[in-house]
Amino acid sequence: MRLDHLKVEQFRNLESAELNPAPRLTVLCGANGQGKTNLLESIWLLTGAKSFRGAKDAELIRRDQGFAVIEADFEGGGRDQALRLTVGSKQSERPGRRARLNGADRGRASAVAGTFTAVVFDPNHLSLVKAGPEGRRHFLDAALCQLFPGYLAALRRYARLTAQKNALLKAYDITPGGDVLLETYNEAMAQCGAEVMGRRAQYLDRLAPLAEANYRDISSGAEALGVRYMPCCEPGDPQALAARLREVRPQELRAGFCLTGPHREDLEILIDGQPGKIYGSQGQQRSAVLALKLAEASVAGEVLGEHPVMLLDDVLSELDDARQTYLLTRIEDKQTFVTTCDSAAFARTNGKLVFVEGGRVREG
Ligand SMILES: Nc1ncnc2c1ncn2[C@@H]1O[C@H](COP(=O)(O)OP(=O)(O)OP(=O)(O)O)[C@@H](O)[C@H]1O
Ligand SMILES: [Mg+2]
Repeated sequence: MRLDHLKVEQFRNLESAELNPAPRLTVLCGANGQGKTNLLESIWLLTGAKSFRGAKDAELIRRDQGFAVIEADFEGGGRDQALRLTVGSKQSERPGRRARLNGADRGRASAVAGTFTAVVFDPNHLSLVKAGPEGRRHFLDAALCQLFPGYLAALRRYARLTAQKNALLKAYDITPGGDVLLETYNEAMAQCGAEVMGRRAQYLDRLAPLAEANYRDISSGAEALGVRYMPCCEPGDPQALAARLREVRPQELRAGFCLTGPHREDLEILIDGQPGKIYGSQGQQRSAVLALKLAEASVAGEVLGEHPVMLLDDVLSELDDARQTYLLTRIEDKQTFVTTCDSAAFARTNGKLVFVEGGRVREG
């Protein structure tokens, strides 16, 4: 996947800006609040997904304007394509995010999902290492939903069953035939739960070695990253999950809610064998998340046959010179965008420099 040309109008603080990215690395430089993340966000929106900042559509449109436009020429699926995305306010003729692909109206922007693919690193992703298991499960699930269309269905089915079983466990004593119902839920959960777990295990078998190698490269071998799936039982085996559910049944009846299964699993992230969350330094935690994100892009590239564009927002802060230099010079064969407010960064990169100032974009 390669973005060749980008033009944005009335998008956030970018009144009118054009960008001709390098086929490999483009470094967006500028002081705080100038529009670097805005530019990255406009590229991300081409994927059809909503903003990685969780912004509402109306916030994307330049203040006091009714309409924002993002136009891109890119190479994807082995050919040159043109995508035009519009973001309209609620009052406008075309409200919300809408897409035209190669001249044809495709309706909602989400309809073009999978056409232009990207992976984003946003500082909020540091929660992958710093926070609880929920974010790590979400990371796995989001990646798997994009790669395997059937995954979302299994995940939803499992979540629905969990909610139903929770309701039953809470009212077990007053539910006639509760024991039969519980058995039915457990059987169904063992089926779709095992499918979810099997996919997670397969995905991690591919992701973990890549993430570990990325970490080695970023840190020049100073520390080692370990990424391990912590399944509640043998993944991918409905019988194993069924046995596990039988085992915890007395505890579940006492607790009044579901105690085990893929909705309670975690991913262990170790730096030099120690939990990254507890012992990792800021720079180590950032390096770990970055290594995971780059690995996510590589696996997507393998499965989909095309490497996604990488959008790295503010990755450089808290990294030492050697790690920064790695990111500014070593990312070679995949198109990457990096933002930085470090004015010295451009002396150290072999990428294309682009300056963002007051919502204007100037190519260096
Ligand atoms: N809808 C909007 N209309 C006009 N300006 C906006 C809109 N949304 C955000 N901005 C402005 O965009 C600027 C922030 O841009 P952005 O987040 O891209 O900064 P940045 O260059 O990434 O800075 P930093 O280095 O601090 O991350 C702010 O000045 C903000 O007021
Ligand atoms: Mg920013």
